[in-house]
Amino acid sequence: MAVIADRCPGIQVTVVDLNAARIAAWNDADLSRLPVYEPGLDAVVGRCRGRNLLFSTAVKTAIAEADMVFLSVNTPTKARGLGAGQASDLRWIEASARQVAAFAQGHTIVVEKSTLPVRTAETITAILAAGPAGKTFSVLSNPEFLAEGTAIGDLEQPDRVLIGGEDPAAIEALASIYSQWVPAERILRTNLWSSELSKLTANSFLAQRISSINSIAAFCEATGADVREVARAIGMDSRIGPKFLQAGPGFGGSCFQKDILNLVYLSGHYGLHEVAAYWQSVVDLNSWQQHRIARLVVNRLFGTVTGKRIAVLGFAFKADTNDTREAPAIRIAADLLEEGAQLAIYDPKVSAEQIAIDLGSEPAPSEQQPTSLSGEGSWLACASVAEAVSGADAALILTEWQEFRQLPWPELAAQMRQPAWLFDARAIADAEAVRRAGLRLWRVGDGQQG
Ligand code: UGA
Repeated sequence: MAVIADRCPGIQVTVVDLNAARIAAWNDADLSRLPVYEPGLDAVVGRCRGRNLLFSTAVKTAIAEADMVFLSVNTPTKARGLGAGQASDLRWIEASARQVAAFAQGHTIVVEKSTLPVRTAETITAILAAGPAGKTFSVLSNPEFLAEGTAIGDLEQPDRVLIGGEDPAAIEALASIYSQWVPAERILRTNLWSSELSKLTANSFLAQRISSINSIAAFCEATGADVREVARAIGMDSRIGPKFLQAGPGFGGSCFQKDILNLVYLSGHYGLHEVAAYWQSVVDLNSWQQHRIARLVVNRLFGTVTGKRIAVLGFAFKADTNDTREAPAIRIAADLLEEGAQLAIYDPKVSAEQIAIDLGSEPAPSEQQPTSLSGEGSWLACASVAEAVSGADAALILTEWQEFRQLPWPELAAQMRQPAWLFDARAIADAEAVRRAGLRLWRVGDGQQG
């Protein structure tokens, strides 16, 4: 919405939320304190806020005055009930649609921005139709393809914008917004269901590439091949392409797993059980990769990590975001805690409070470090890499933050308990420098190491 406001000065954009604290945070005079860390977002908000971009809790007024309403609420995987663990939880979509039905005036275009299961537009249309008489609606699907960490660039120069719908006038109204900065040939118009399904399919294909390359990474480790060489070789085939072939600790984030599980659920619903099993395997391989990394850390550390300090470098699900939803670090840390490890966690953007929520436990009191052999796992958050690795038996890189690419390994190794290891699950550290510093090295997909 901030980028739309930036690119379309003639359009008034009002972002509303019931959560007053969140809206207050978006209105914070200090732009470095916006609730989402996203490179470049502060500058865009700084340019538009108070001009044609407003953040407000006045939900009713904003809906009543709007010609177009974007539903941009979260749709996480259902935690319980029918379809638990697979289907999307649509309660926030339904609640928003009911509010739009109640407060809208005249004709309103309603745009699905949240990622939704196929045919959700039908549900939204039904809810809108059941509202008070005297108003009309057109429902469009306009899925978002931005990735966190690169969101502003992705929005300013999108590969494509997708608009699904049945009402040509509504489609053209939305297209005319994007056409203020997106070339006409990149604005695609489809039917509603194709648009909704394209979003789930795009994410499923991207996630599938990661599971495919991670499966080959494990194979490389077993055979002496190097997954980076394999990725380069296959990526130069223009039919395959070079992107999204980075082996790692598996995909995280709020989107990939949720969207594939949605596809799995819907395939099952339509009786396509083989299709469901096919996509489920992408998620299964991802979980396996995360457990595999935790297991190999334990194995290399002589089969036990009880009471050992392990520095976890990076907790966010990828670099350049403070988002930890479904982060590989959560599962890998949980496995290591189960084994009794003492985790010293450092992430440049993730707070100790967030880590406590994700791990479901409070940090250890500092006097407990370095700990004994009591057998209970524990964790604490550190303010720097140096603090995290101090006294550690191993460091484990889980997020590809820029600062982890060039670390002073000789200095860091001197602070560690020997024989010390670096487990580089993103293969970003300088392997030569690490080895010269006297550390043992495992890196994902490298059959020549460790
Ligand atoms: C993803 C899609 O890339 C976006 O197009 C989509 O709009 C978004 O989901 C969404 O549905 O909202 P995002 O989850 O923000 O974006 O981040 P990605 O860059 O796709 O990374 C996802 C995960 O895959 C991360 O954990 C990342 O580290 C991992 N990854 C990515 C790899 O392990 N290897 C790669 O080569 C690429």
